[in-house]
Amino acid sequence: MEFLIRPPEEQEMTAFRIALARGFGRHPRPEPEDTELFLKLFERERSLAVFDADRIIGTTGIFSFEMSLPGGAVMPVAGVTMVTVAATHRRRGILRQIMARQLSDVRDRGEPAAALWASESSIYGRFGYGLAIQHERWSIDRRLAVLAHSPAVNGQVRWVAETEARQLFPQVWARARLVKPGMIARSGKVWDNLFHDPEHRRLGGSAYFFAVYEEAGRAEGYVSYRIKMNYEDGSDAHVVMVGDLTATTDAAYAALWRLLLNIDLTAKVESWGRAVDEPLWWMLEGPRRLQRIPHDAIWLRLLDVPAALSRRTYLTPGRLVIEVKDEFCPWVAGRYALDAGPDGAQCKVTTAEPDIVLGAAELAAVYMGGHRMSPLARAGRAEERTHRALAKADAMFAWDVAPYFPHGF
Ligand SMILES: CC(C)(COP(=O)(O)OP(=O)(O)OC[C@H]1O[C@@H](n2cnc3c(N)ncnc32)[C@H](O)[C@@H]1OP(=O)(O)O)[C@@H](O)C(=O)NCCC(=O)NCCS
Repeated sequence: MEFLIRPPEEQEMTAFRIALARGFGRHPRPEPEDTELFLKLFERERSLAVFDADRIIGTTGIFSFEMSLPGGAVMPVAGVTMVTVAATHRRRGILRQIMARQLSDVRDRGEPAAALWASESSIYGRFGYGLAIQHERWSIDRRLAVLAHSPAVNGQVRWVAETEARQLFPQVWARARLVKPGMIARSGKVWDNLFHDPEHRRLGGSAYFFAVYEEAGRAEGYVSYRIKMNYEDGSDAHVVMVGDLTATTDAAYAALWRLLLNIDLTAKVESWGRAVDEPLWWMLEGPRRLQRIPHDAIWLRLLDVPAALSRRTYLTPGRLVIEVKDEFCPWVAGRYALDAGPDGAQCKVTTAEPDIVLGAAELAAVYMGGHRMSPLARAGRAEERTHRALAKADAMFAWDVAPYFPHGF
């Protein structure tokens, strides 16, 4: 059955928020500041509501991202979010209808890709989303963690009040995000949301503490963290809950971790959303003190292969013809000639025989430089048609910095 799908009208926003929250097992927050922030961030004309008669039974939205790519270029990407279908209407193909409509809207707007953070990792592969960025959940036994190695640290860490954090953090982020593929530009309203710190967002921890690392008069890193009270056998064994830790230099990174590992009366440091290539592991005397749990972060959906592939740069030069299969978005399927290297890339439609054949999700999985094609081929998800084409693709698509996306959305 086809349902009406369209952006919600302004007067339908309360119903939209109720349906959205219910989809995730919640109620909308009643506080006026939460409503105000939600509406400020919400891009109504890019969102969709699904109607059964006059009832909203499905929702989705988009945040317009500007995402960094390997090499420092940026790309507009549709940040797909708020996907729900009412429990009364499950498994009738409504998500499939939402996805089809949304992806064709994104294509019509000229964005080469869409990205999302999935509530369940089994949902979006069928719609051509590939796992492009992973992150790690960390837990460190602080009392046993010894920092045995460190780059030279010439600057200093100091705590700052929220007003100063609001000035300094965006400056650090703006520089850091161009170096790491996957990171996005943060507007003022996004920062407002990140600094919005009511009790219900604290997960049992304190309000945020903010600290910056400065060198030669410039902030090069920052961290926000909470302390969650905990007692073991009558002793203080609190938990440091790291919020956002971003650094533009290795010294800033090392100094901020030194701070987190030196907070007295705490037993553990926990951080959610760490990049897979961070050096803390190599700084510890006993790396086993750092428990790392890998997790899927960003699922990427390519919608315009030539536009996306010619926008990034590649670690080693080479030419490849890639055939992309795509049942869900047939306009993406085709053969593409990629002529690329560290100085830039060209990607065009071709009729030449392919070196590699793979699906849109698999190409998206390697696009940000976080994964290689060879293991995908070994999993039966890519096919090598010419000698050593996969090895060549691995060397080209790799990047020296792992892609990173620190938080859900
Ligand atoms: C996930 C959700 C949106 C699915 O909606 P739906 O309308 O029931 O999905 P559809 O009937 O269109 O299913 C489309 C396909 O996805 C699959 N699918 C749906 N939900 C799935 C899930 N949770 N896990 C794995 N596969 C799922 C279906 O089996 C179907 O597969 P097929 O077409 O290949 O046979 C809905 O269950 C929901 O709102 N869940 C709670 C909120 C949530 O998790 N949202 C996702 C946020 S990222």
